[in-house]
Parts: sequence; C-alpha cells; structure tokens
Amino acid sequence: MSTTTAIELREQVRQRYAESARAVTKGSGCCDSSCCQGDAEAGFGEALYDLEQRRELPDAAALASLGCGNPTAVAELREGETVLDLGSGGGIDVILSAKRVGPTGVVFGLDMTDEMLGLARANAAEAGASNAIFLKGIIEDVPLPAESVDVVISNCVINLSTDKAAVLTEIARVLKPGGRVGVSDIVAEDRLSPEDRAERGSYVGCIAGALSKSEYEQGLDAAGFADVSVTFTHEVADGMHGAIVQAVKG
Ligand SMILES: C[S@@+](CC[C@H](N)C(=O)[O-])C[C@H]1O[C@@H](n2cnc3c(N)ncnc32)[C@H](O)[C@@H]1O
Repeated sequence: MSTTTAIELREQVRQRYAESARAVTKGSGCCDSSCCQGDAEAGFGEALYDLEQRRELPDAAALASLGCGNPTAVAELREGETVLDLGSGGGIDVILSAKRVGPTGVVFGLDMTDEMLGLARANAAEAGASNAIFLKGIIEDVPLPAESVDVVISNCVINLSTDKAAVLTEIARVLKPGGRVGVSDIVAEDRLSPEDRAERGSYVGCIAGALSKSEYEQGLDAAGFADVSVTFTHEVADGMHGAIVQAVKG
C-alpha cells in the first residue's frame, strides 16, 4: 500500500466490482482472474452454496456470487430478525437471509458500488424479497443507527477494506447487545507477513488485504466482542484460507 493511498485503493476496488456487475448484467459472466470471483476450483463463488439454496436464487444473483464462503450457513438467522450484509454485491446473501427472517424481519445490504446495488435490487425484486433493503455506503461508516441490528453477515468483503479497525468498530456499534457476527472472509496463516500475502494475489482479488488469524481475533477483541472464533474452511492459496469468523457483542 506504500505508493497507493487508501482512497485510490478503494476506488480500484469499486471499479473492479462495478465491472463485475456490468458483466453479469450484460449476461457475459463474471470478471477475470484478478477478481474475487466465482471460480469454484479456487474456492470462490456460487459453488459454496448448496443446491437447495441456489434454486431459491435468480440466475443473475448466483452468477454474481463473488464470495469465499456461505455466511447464511454460519449465522443462525431467526424469524423477525434484522440482518445487515456488509458488501452485499449482487445480493445473494441478502436474498437468502430475507427468506430466513421472513416477512416480520428485514435484511439490509450495504455496498458502495452503484452497479452492484442496481443488480442486487433487480435480483431481490425477481426473487420476491420485499423485506430486502439495499443501502449505498461504505462498511467503514455504516448508515444505520446504533444497536439496530441482530446479526451482521458478510462474504469476502472485510479483506477489501483499507480500514479494518473501523469496520469492526462499526459492526460493534450497529449490533444490539447480544448481537452476532457471522462472516466469511479470506484469512492468512499467522506465518505470512503482509508481503507474503501480497505475493499470493492482488488486493482487489481478495488476497493481499487479508488479515491473519491472530490479527482478526485481536481486532474483534479490541472492538469489544466475546466468543471470538476464526476457523479455516478451505485453502485458496498457499497459507491463505476461506474462513468463518464468528463473535458475539457482549
Ligand atoms: C468480493 S465482492 C462480494 C460480494 C458479495 N458479498 C458476494 O458474496 O457475492 C465485494 C463487494 O463488496 C463491495 N465493497 C468492497 N469494499 C467496500 C467498502 N469499503 N464499502 C462498501 N462496499 C464495499 C464491492 O462493491 C463488492 O460488491
């Protein structure tokens, strides 16, 4: 990050995912190899969802899946709950969560990229998810009031943030006491330095910006979370893993 400022890096991320959304909207598939993309062999994308879940989704929502896990399988969502998805992309996890919380619940999807928001809104409408609300904004400054959310989910987005401490503090702020975090993300083994991580992939491709396991745990501790766990699920590059991150607001 030495020659690139945080603002420039965020703009590169925004452009990359705007391009992905445009590609899906045009029906030409999703992105190239520099993208945190739907490459099942590399451990990304719609293959991480079971068949039953994929049947609940419009094609474009499944195609736009750029995640590295399935947070809806991690977070135990209950009827009537309020859920927030950080970096909601084409809306896959928002749509699945909206079904889980039912008509008495609500799911917010937050994303900074207009093209993704447009795609997500169209996908939610096609899926009949009337309790899905998409907000434009950044995950470092969430446009929701304090203590308004039961569960925060996210799929392969926190690694893209240039200010992870701010993201974790915002999660703690918007969660109600006892609220839960269930996030999928790319996480590095502690043996890898930031330089080692950068050698294994790009920043916009969800690799170079990943926290290590200890850094994630310490960040969540510092933001005031309890019952913190970071569990590797599948290796996506040497020493870099798709992981499930869970915590509870005390
Ligand atoms: C790798 S994609 C994941 C999308 C979705 N979660 C999924 O699983 O398909 C990253 C998404 O996060 C959004 N994003 C990245 N950094 C962000 C930030 N700082 N604030 C808000 N959205 C961000 C991008 O616009 C993009 O839609």
